[in-house]
Amino acid sequence: MPGSDARALVAAARRARRYARAAYSAFKVGAALETADGTIITGCNIENATYGLTVCAERVAMFKALSDGHRRFRRIAIVADTESPTPPCGACRQVLWEFGGDLEVILGNPRGQTARFRLSELLPHPFDARSLSDEPPRR
Ligand code: THU
Repeated sequence: MPGSDARALVAAARRARRYARAAYSAFKVGAALETADGTIITGCNIENATYGLTVCAERVAMFKALSDGHRRFRRIAIVADTESPTPPCGACRQVLWEFGGDLEVILGNPRGQTARFRLSELLPHPFDARSLSDEPPRR
C-alpha cells in the first residue's frame, strides 16, 4: 500500500476516472499529477470517433498542468479497472519524461492494489533534449 499522501493521489485519480469519455473502448482511466508544491491536477482519457485523436488520461493531466503554468512535478497516479494495475502507454511515458523527468509513477485499480515505479524504470533509454544536442556537428 502506498503511504497516506500517495493514497490521496490515487483517490484523486480514481475520482477523475469517473469523467472518462471512453465511448469506443469502454476502458476508463484516471490520472492525478502532483506538482512540486503539492497541487494535484487530474485527467481522464478522452476518446474520439476517429480513434486516433484519443488522448490518454496521463497526457490530459500533464497538458492541463502545463497550461496552468505548472513546471515542476513529483509524481503521478494512474487508475484503471484491470487485475494488475495498468502502466502508462509509450506515448505518455515519453510526454511525462519530457515535462516531468524521473517522476514517481503509482499505479492503482479500484480494488486498492497498487504498484510503484520510477519513470526511468518504465522508460530506461529515453530520447530527449540531450539526445538532440548529442548530434555530431553538421558539415
Ligand atoms: N489509456 C489511457 O488513458 N492511459 C493509459 O495508460 C492506457 C490507455 C486510454 C486510451 C484509450 O482511451 C483507452 O485507454 C484504451 O486504450
